[in-house]
Amino acid sequence: MPKVIEVDGLVKEYGAVTAVDRIRFSVDEGQVFAFLGPNGAGKTTTVEVLEGLREATKGTVSVLGLDPWTDGRELHRQIGVIPQDFRFFEKITPREAIEYYAALFDRKADAMGLLRQVGLDDKANARFDTLSGGQKQKLGLSLALVNDPKIYFLDEPTTGLDPQARRSIWEVIKTLKAAHRTVFLTTHYLEEAELLADQVAIIHHGRIIAEGTPASIIREHGRPQRLVVEGSPGLPELLRTSLKLPVRVDAGRAVVEIRERKDIVQAMVAIEQSGLPWSGFATESDTLEDVFVSLVGRMDDGVLKSEGSA
Ligand SMILES: Nc1ncnc2c1ncn2[C@@H]1O[C@H](COP(=O)(O)OP(=O)(O)OP(=O)(O)O)[C@@H](O)[C@H]1O
Ligand SMILES: [Mg+2]
Repeated sequence: MPKVIEVDGLVKEYGAVTAVDRIRFSVDEGQVFAFLGPNGAGKTTTVEVLEGLREATKGTVSVLGLDPWTDGRELHRQIGVIPQDFRFFEKITPREAIEYYAALFDRKADAMGLLRQVGLDDKANARFDTLSGGQKQKLGLSLALVNDPKIYFLDEPTTGLDPQARRSIWEVIKTLKAAHRTVFLTTHYLEEAELLADQVAIIHHGRIIAEGTPASIIREHGRPQRLVVEGSPGLPELLRTSLKLPVRVDAGRAVVEIRERKDIVQAMVAIEQSGLPWSGFATESDTLEDVFVSLVGRMDDGVLKSEGSA
């Protein structure tokens, strides 16, 4: 797959603040790439450099083979953008906004079709300043669709949306992916990234601290899979002696760290043979959110410690 975004050694400083600190990553054509990180990590700064809205302090950035800062005019014809804090003229309606954008790009747009796609057709003729936060976000997405771009930069497109509206945005993102468009997504909803993203990078204090597919990040940084059994208080001891695997007790349940799938079967056989009563079992795996919280937490501990000892 050709690479449509390539970033190497990117640094962005705002005066004394280093918002992005020597990051390197690339995005393949047709991928959904999720760029994750806590507040202030450097996500929007990176997105704005990729969009050609901010000049990099150092490093090289290529988007569709163009330098976003010097070839911005050409690039802007080929990308679609929803800024994190999407605003528009107060008195314009969604239908007019789409027609306005279409005129800017010298294109014909099916305004109602685009609004239907994002679930905003019922507000086609409402003034922008009367739209709810979520409806404004949806309008932002519909505007990004107008010029049928090759890459979509969506900076927190689902923040503040109700669960149904979020799902409708996910559907739009899946449709874009099916049409081989590339989506660069930032979000604080980790399950959204896990569901949609082919590749993920986690940025923290301007540095990338993990990257890969959601599954590979979980495998690399997550805890082992667990078998959780509820039932007799004798279960933990039985499992400890029969399986020789680490077992702990959590809220009265026995939690066994498993290495391979057959450990699950062995555990359940041992329980059945012992005659001890059990009422239910489940397996637990870390989610991307578990891994994110633990990675960022560990980094913060490390940062605080090193700052404290300095
Ligand atoms: N225009 C600016 N001038 C000075 N500092 C800035 C500017 N924009 C961002 N920063 C700082 O750069 C750092 C990164 O900000 P950025 O907006 O890129 O974070 P983010 O990851 O998008 O966060 P969020 O999840 O809150 O949107 C922060 O410390 C922020 O205070
Ligand atoms: Mg941001």
